[in-house]
Amino acid sequence: MRLTSRYRFSASHRLDTPTLSPAENRRLYGKCNNPHGHGHNYVLDITVDGPIDETGQVVNREELDKLVRRRVLRRLDHRDLNTEIPELWGRVTTTENLAAMVREALSENWTLPARLASVRIAETARNSFELEVPKQR
Ligand code: NI
Repeated sequence: MRLTSRYRFSASHRLDTPTLSPAENRRLYGKCNNPHGHGHNYVLDITVDGPIDETGQVVNREELDKLVRRRVLRRLDHRDLNTEIPELWGRVTTTENLAAMVREALSENWTLPARLASVRIAETARNSFELEVPKQR
């Protein structure tokens, strides 16, 4: 059984690859390379996977919420992703890299019986990025 819980956070960023020239960065990222940055209202979907327990649930949703709030939302909400999140230093703050960072932050502190199955982040209404977490053998 899979359960997906939805969360929201707002953050600012600027896309820039340091090994490319300013002109190449502008061409590659367009408006997202604006030197002053810009914000997004991100939608984060966390999916867990596991059997239904004796309480009839895949996961205790309060515990899931607490974990996501503490490890992800509290750290990212209303932050500048380029400067305020050490795990993203040296990485371009694309939503791809943001999803990978969220997955790492959750995996390192995962205490729930259900397995973390995927991290999905929508940056705009038109784009979302999903990182599947492989099953451990
Ligand atoms: Ni952007």
